[in-house]
Amino acid sequence: MNILIIYGTTEGQTRKIAVWTAARTRERGHQVELVDSEALPSDLKVEAFHAFIIAASVHQKHHKDTITNFVFAHHELLNARPSAFISVSLSAVLEEPEAQGYVDRFVSVTGWRPRTTLLLGGALRFTEYDYFQEQVVKFIVMKGSGAAFSERDQEFTDWNALTDFVDRFLEAAA
Ligand SMILES: Cc1cc2nc3c(=O)[nH]c(=O)nc-3n(C[C@H](O)[C@H](O)[C@H](O)COP(=O)(O)O)c2cc1C
Repeated sequence: MNILIIYGTTEGQTRKIAVWTAARTRERGHQVELVDSEALPSDLKVEAFHAFIIAASVHQKHHKDTITNFVFAHHELLNARPSAFISVSLSAVLEEPEAQGYVDRFVSVTGWRPRTTLLLGGALRFTEYDYFQEQVVKFIVMKGSGAAFSERDQEFTDWNALTDFVDRFLEAAA
C-alpha cells in the first residue's frame, strides 16, 4: 500500500513517533510519505494514498491546529479509506478520561471517523521549555493530572504499544 503519515508536533515527540511509525510501516513492505503538517508540500496528492496514519500532540487540551485543519479539509476522503489516529498527550500516560475527551472533541470538530485510535504518552522536556510552557506544564497539566511527575526530562511513549497498533492497522487495512 501507499501510505501517508502526517504529524503535528510542537516539541518534537510526535515527530519521533511519526518517524518510528514510518520505519515500521516500510519494514512491513509499504511505501510511505512522511509529512509535517506545518510544511505541507503544495503538490501533495492526498487522493493518491490507500491509507492514512495521522499523529498529533495535545497542548492546552487541543490537538495541533495544522492537523485539525488538514483533517477537516480531507475528512470525507479519510472516512472513505483506512485511517488511524495517534493522539499524543500526558493524560494518556495516566489513562485518564481527558485523553479520550481530546479525541472525542477532535473527531466532532473535524468530522473524521478514524477506524482506530491510539492514546499514546508523550514526553516532558523541562530543559527545552520557555517560561510560559514550564508554567503551563507545572500548574495546569501536571496539577490537573493529580500525579507527581518529577520536573526532569522524561519520555513516556510506549514503543511496544505503538508497534502493535501500527501492525494491527496495516493488517486490517491491507
Ligand atoms: C505547554 C504545554 C501544554 C500541554 N498541555 C497538555 C494538555 O492539555 N493535556 C495533556 O494531556 N498534555 C499536555 N501537554 C503534554 C504534551 O502533550 C506532551 O508533552 C507531548 O509529548 C507533546 O508532544 P510534541 O513534542 O509532539 O509536541 C502539554 C505540554 C506542554 C509543553
